[in-house]
Amino acid sequence: MSELLPTVDDTRAFGRALAAVLRAGDLVVLSGPLGAGKTALAQGIGAGLGVAGDITSPTFVIARVHRPDPRRGGRVPLVHVDAYRLGGVRDPLGEVDALDLDATLDESVTVVEWGEGLVEQLSDEHLEVRLDRRDDDTRVVTLIPRGADWAARCRTVDHSGASPA
Ligand SMILES: Nc1ncnc2c1ncn2[C@@H]1O[C@H](COP(=O)(O)OP(=O)(O)OP(=O)(O)O)[C@@H](O)[C@H]1O
Ligand SMILES: [Mg+2]
Repeated sequence: MSELLPTVDDTRAFGRALAAVLRAGDLVVLSGPLGAGKTALAQGIGAGLGVAGDITSPTFVIARVHRPDPRRGGRVPLVHVDAYRLGGVRDPLGEVDALDLDATLDESVTVVEWGEGLVEQLSDEHLEVRLDRRDDDTRVVTLIPRGADWAARCRTVDHSGASPA
């Protein structure tokens, strides 16, 4: 499934809609070239999950934990990872686990910004969310289910108002 995202707000809105189908233990991989909108999408997911703290590019850290904020209806922590910092390692999630974050991946939704050409090495079941930038600077998002029940869950994402790409 692909949808057109004309503006950065549309990308955030898509993230919020996607968050509604996410639960603890999920791995979501945001793929796409530099500046495609991966962090904007992660911000939408964070808003939808109701977590605390601004979601920014984790430039100086590999991963950041955002706690659920009960006032925003938050239920699960969000672990936001920038895999550029992990480039080329054989077991990237093992590396994240080894960071000893104060939330385990099992009890969190983990969102990884993966960048171009790295996602293929990931064997764990996950949802890949592919972002592409078009010549007119709009973006196209594509959901790519990788195992488990992701295909069925993708069909339940309700992003009404968006137009198919
Ligand atoms: N439709 C759109 N969706 C997302 N971002 C957009 C869109 N249109 C313009 N932008 C702009 O693109 C820029 C890049 O966004 P963002 O930082 O989310 O990308 P990224 O994929 O995380 O980049 P990086 O590869 O550096 O991590 C932002 O300045 C954002 O405002
Ligand atoms: Mg980013």
